[in-house]
Amino acid sequence: MDNAKLTLNGKDYEFPVIVGAEQEVGIDFAALRAKTGAIGYDPGYGNTGACESAITYIDGDQGILRYRGYPIEQLATSASFVEVCYLLIYGHLPSKTELDNFQHDLTYHTLIHEDMKKFFEGYPPSAHPMAIMAAMIVSLSAYYPENDDPDLTNLNIIRLLAKGKTIAAFSYKKSIGQPYIYPRNDLSYTADFLHMMFAVPAELYRVPEVLERALNLLLILHADHEQNCSTSTVRMVGSSRAGLFASIGAGVCALWGPLHGGANQEVINMLAMIRDDGGDYQKYVSMAKTKDSNFRLMGFGHRVYKNFDPRATILKKATDDVLDALGVKDPLLDIAKNLEDIALKDSFFIERKLYPNVDFYSGIIYRAMGIPTNMFTLLFTLGRLPGWIAQWKEMREDPVTRINRPRQIYSGATERAYVPVNKR
Ligand code: CMC
Repeated sequence: MDNAKLTLNGKDYEFPVIVGAEQEVGIDFAALRAKTGAIGYDPGYGNTGACESAITYIDGDQGILRYRGYPIEQLATSASFVEVCYLLIYGHLPSKTELDNFQHDLTYHTLIHEDMKKFFEGYPPSAHPMAIMAAMIVSLSAYYPENDDPDLTNLNIIRLLAKGKTIAAFSYKKSIGQPYIYPRNDLSYTADFLHMMFAVPAELYRVPEVLERALNLLLILHADHEQNCSTSTVRMVGSSRAGLFASIGAGVCALWGPLHGGANQEVINMLAMIRDDGGDYQKYVSMAKTKDSNFRLMGFGHRVYKNFDPRATILKKATDDVLDALGVKDPLLDIAKNLEDIALKDSFFIERKLYPNVDFYSGIIYRAMGIPTNMFTLLFTLGRLPGWIAQWKEMREDPVTRINRPRQIYSGATERAYVPVNKR
């Protein structure tokens, strides 16, 4: 492909064009400032490729999502979350032996250092589980040393995936004042997590298969999503050569925001608000269209998808299946469906290509599974761990990686002299 040409102040410059494996085109502006003295200005990075990556492919116009080339629809119906973790992190579907070894490693690294339990005790019961999760993941670095040795890094990757679910479940037990339930080596990754969440020492708890299957699906759908806000945060922090645990802890914080992973919690709050207000969804669609109302339809819209979010399509169907299997009737599901119907016929949403995203239906499934609303984003975190890890590893192994350091267009005061306080 021809070089891209730029004219600035009457001078012509050429920049190489880079074409991805799926023919997506980028202009390589790495030398822009050195050649022209100017920088690129792209608030929100909507047009900026920060890296080359071989992990996840999204075509937002077609509604396509693939992990390492495999369509999300196939992984969602056929794979286990543990297989998807392996695929994302190591780049290929594991052989039977690789999967057995990986599963074994994930099973035998689930315990957290006993001293870490004291940290949980220090939090007030009202603490948001995401606050605990972020702090605990960073705290792992205090117990498990990190350096650039690939074998140690790999061990820490296993530790993070294995202990991540223990930490998530302990955060929940802390918030409801129940004793922590230790991991069990005879259970699958997903069943072990659900057991740690819902079992109590007083009686036997068998994880219902329907919950295990639903969680497996939810975690797979959340496992990676290329350079989103939290993943970019992980790469940003990791580019300073901060360790795995610190980088992923930062990603947890980024995910927490209501425009990102926190949206699943906000969707349920919004649906409950509509229900409590008499179920008049048309009123809320109108509010979402009014700019100064400060109200958005949570679970709608996406920076990349300008068509159906394929994860939402899978989840919409799964919602009916899971609720039927559990025998749960949730009035919020009817409100959600009505809201979606109205919004999809409304020119405001059609023109802006605003479709339901992954968070729109996930919360209803979590609710049916008995997971409290303030845990929803933590579940997203658990699902996203392998994606963050894969992206962090890819970034650290890429010789092109430099510390991430965007520039700015300065818009403040030009030089002025200091004025002593008695003269101001
Ligand atoms: N409700 C009403 N209007 C909306 C919505 C919405 N949910 N989302 C976008 N718009 C409008 C927005 O007002 C703007 O209109 P206009 O062009 O007239 O100014 C236009 O659509 C484009 O919006 P934007 O804010 O420029 O789009 P963005 O790409 O910067 O933001 C988003 C993407 C996901 C933050 C946004 O759509 C949003 O706030 N959605 C609600 C929160 C949400 O569901 N987040 C979860 C995202 S999916 C999970 C994840 O990966 O994190």
